[in-house]
Order: sequence, then structure tokens, then C-alpha cells
Amino acid sequence: MEKIAKIGWESTEPVPAGHQFTPYLQEKNGRLHLDGLDLAQLMQDSTQLSGLDTRLTSPLEVVYLPLIRQRIAEMRAVFAAVREELNYAGQFHYAYASKANAAEEVIRTTLGTGAHHEMSSTIDVDIARLMIARGLLTPERMIICNGFKAETTDYAANIIRLHDQHPNLIPVVEDLGELPPLIRSGREFQVGIRQKCYGPHDDLADMDRSNSRFGMDLEDVWKAVDYISAAPNLQLTMYHAMVGSQILNREDFVEWLEPPMEVYARLRKRHPSLRIFNFGGGMPVRMTLNFQFDYRAFIHLLLATMQQMCARYDVPVPDIMGEFGRYTTSEHGAHLFSIITAKDNFSTLPWYIIDGSIMTSFPDSWALGEHFIVLPLNYLDQPFQQVRLGGITCDSDDVYPPHNSASPLYLPVETEGLAIGFFSIGAYQEMLGGVRGSKHCVLPEANELVVDRDEAGRWQYDIIPGQAAADVLRNLGYRP
Ligand SMILES: Cc1ncc(COP(=O)(O)O)c(C=O)c1O
Repeated sequence: MEKIAKIGWESTEPVPAGHQFTPYLQEKNGRLHLDGLDLAQLMQDSTQLSGLDTRLTSPLEVVYLPLIRQRIAEMRAVFAAVREELNYAGQFHYAYASKANAAEEVIRTTLGTGAHHEMSSTIDVDIARLMIARGLLTPERMIICNGFKAETTDYAANIIRLHDQHPNLIPVVEDLGELPPLIRSGREFQVGIRQKCYGPHDDLADMDRSNSRFGMDLEDVWKAVDYISAAPNLQLTMYHAMVGSQILNREDFVEWLEPPMEVYARLRKRHPSLRIFNFGGGMPVRMTLNFQFDYRAFIHLLLATMQQMCARYDVPVPDIMGEFGRYTTSEHGAHLFSIITAKDNFSTLPWYIIDGSIMTSFPDSWALGEHFIVLPLNYLDQPFQQVRLGGITCDSDDVYPPHNSASPLYLPVETEGLAIGFFSIGAYQEMLGGVRGSKHCVLPEANELVVDRDEAGRWQYDIIPGQAAADVLRNLGYRP
């Protein structure tokens, strides 16, 4: 049976005054506010908001950069507190996994917090170069190069060139075939090795059986470290073990990381240059309203388990790195729509039709049945009813909640001028759906509002225009 995800208001009663849905979404006078920003006002007449003199139209993407900074600061604070409590001797390194959202404003914001930078393809290298030129990716930041870097790829060659500009670069070797270009380059590279360990496993043998195209099995890990030790220009620095994504059970998370910890400790015994244990991604974040995860308890268990493992093998504990993708960017993104019509055609529930597409905006909802938070922006103080949402495309999958979902969606009965928002959609959705380009049923891309606050807390807005009809037509090869 599917676990019921709480994706919005779950009753026909109005939302109580001042109700806090999440730390950043709150009811106020019947309207939804995002950290104090009146979202209904953005859709109705944005010129009434101080600092914004453009009238915005629906649908509208909103990104709120302070939430990225908050998430990073919170994770660093928890690691600092637990390290102190356990007297953990290693450092913590926060890296942003740029595949979750590679938009300029996101990368600029993560780097602005001092985060290290993780990448996965050759264009990522070009992005890093631009950020170095702007003085944002400074020399002390580590750049971690994951992804397939086989000998003949542009990515492998581009990484080697980037090293000339930014030597603090760690290619993480996925496969033995990735080593020769690094060795031949003659550059002094720090390198990482990636263990095949995705998904559940109890011990080393079980981990080796994992069905994953990422990383090397145990035999190849040992071969790789031998080649690295024999190469005069390579130094083994990092061990990488990623076991999953959005892992909601902290015991599972650490249990799956335990066999990799053991491999780390054995490797460290023979290779004292090894100093970073990188657990990759997987850190969960609130994508529904009933999300629960005790970050502190997870990190406590992670570091304590690592201490025990290292004591068993009599090696020093490593620095810990996480590559936080979804955790960093999920919550900063919202997508607002207007209800263009409410249709009661004797389907099981009334249909509320939005002025955009659910399936092209949030591909994980139809492809994987994933849930996101959906709330009205106005009429929160009025009665609700259970409904289904439909996108404006003619596709039967363009609906929300996803097919087979057991999660009910309640929205206000009043639909005249009703606007809604999808929340916690800032990771992966835009990258999977594509930025610009042509979309299903030739729907144009929405305008995007980038929202930030200056040091005095004043709102700052930047508008990234969406697509006009001419852009879509040109993109498909039509010329006027
Ligand atoms: C190597 C690597 N690191 C980090 C991440 C980010 O994972 P998450 O979004 O779960 O934080 C991914 C995601 O696929 C990944 O492949």
C-alpha cells in the first residue's frame, strides 16, 4: 500500500488564521505568504509590492534564494554541533551537487555561502570556468568531478584543462578506464574513487552485488588505488560512496553506508593521503507536508559509526563530505498558476484546470508518481473541497495528484480568481523538463521571478522573461 503523502490542506474547513504549513509558508488574511511575500499579490497586481514595478502574468515561476542559504547554514550548524558533541576530529565539507539545478542564480548563491562544487558533465566545467572568472569559485573551494569521464570524452579533456586554472579539483574515478588520461596529463591531481554501492546492502559482498552502473566493485577499487599509488602525479584523496536519494530512514541510510566505511578504513590503513569520505547525495528534504527527518540524529549516527569503524581499524577518522543536491535547492522553487476553469463533468472529483502543464513543469510527478506540496494562494479562509488538478495540455497524464496516488488534494470551493502554487519543486524538475526548448502541446515557458533579500532584509527582484509565441515557433523551425 502506498504511504499517504500530505500534499496540501486536508479538510473542507477553512485554514485557521496564521497557520504555518512549513517554516516558510504561512496563512495570513486568507492568503499564502512565502517568508512574508504575499504570493497572491504577485499574481494579481505585483506592482503593489514594494520594489517591483512590473505587472507579472500567470503562470509564474518563483525562486527564493534565501532558502538555499538557510538550508546550507542549517546543515553546517548541525554537523558542527554533532562534531563537537562526539569530539569528531575530521572536518565537514558541504558541496553543492549542481545537477539538481544548474541555473546561474543557484550556483552563484551556493558558491556565495562558501560551498564546494560538485559537477557531472563537460558543460559543468564551462560553468565552473565562468564562476572562477567572476571570482565566485575561489581557489580554496574543492571542485569534485563525478560522472562518466572515459578517455575519449570532452569531459575528461575539459577537466584536465580546468586543472590548470583551479588545481583544487578532484576527479572521482568511476571506472579504471578513467585513470589513463589523468596519469598521462602529467598534472598533479588529487583523485577520488567511487565505490559501487547504490541501494540497500548488509555487507561488502552484498554491496558488490548491487545492480548499479555507478562506481567500481571492490576488486577494481583496489586495482585503482594501486594504479594511483604507482602514478607519480596522482594522490588518492577521496573515497566516494553514494547509496541513494531522498533516503527517509536514517538507520537505513547509515546501515547502507557502513560497508563503504569499512572499505574506507581498510584503504586508509595503506594510503595515508586518503582524507575525505564523501557520502554523495541522498539527504532528504521536505517535499510534502508530513515530511519528518531528524538531521541531527542522522548525523550523530553517521559520525559515531564512522568513529567506531575507524577505531576498529586503528585509523584516523576522515573529513566528511556530502554532495547536497535536492536538499539544497528543492525548497527554494515554486511554480504558481491560475485556475482557468473548474469543470464538474461527473468524474469522481471536480477538475480544476490550471493555465500550464503539470507534466512538463514537474516531470517526476507523472514519470515517477512523486508528490509535491500544492496550496492555494488566496481564499485560504474559505471552505475547501477535494479536487483533482488538470494541466492545459491534452494529455491524460497531465494531472495531479499523480495516477494511483492515495493522497487527497483539497482546494478552495471558490474558483473565481483562484491561484495555486506547487512548492518544493526547485530540484531536478526544471533540469528534467528542460529550460527553453519546445514543450508538450507547444506551451510556452513561464516568466521567472528571482527573489532575494539584501542585507537589510529588503526584497530584491529580478525577472527572467519566459517564452513568447515567436520564440516557440522559431525553436520549432517556423520562420515568419
Ligand atoms: C554523484 C552524485 N552526487 C550527488 C547527487 C545529488 O543527490 P541528491 O539530490 O539526493 O542530494 C547525485 C544525484 O544523482 C549524484 O549522482
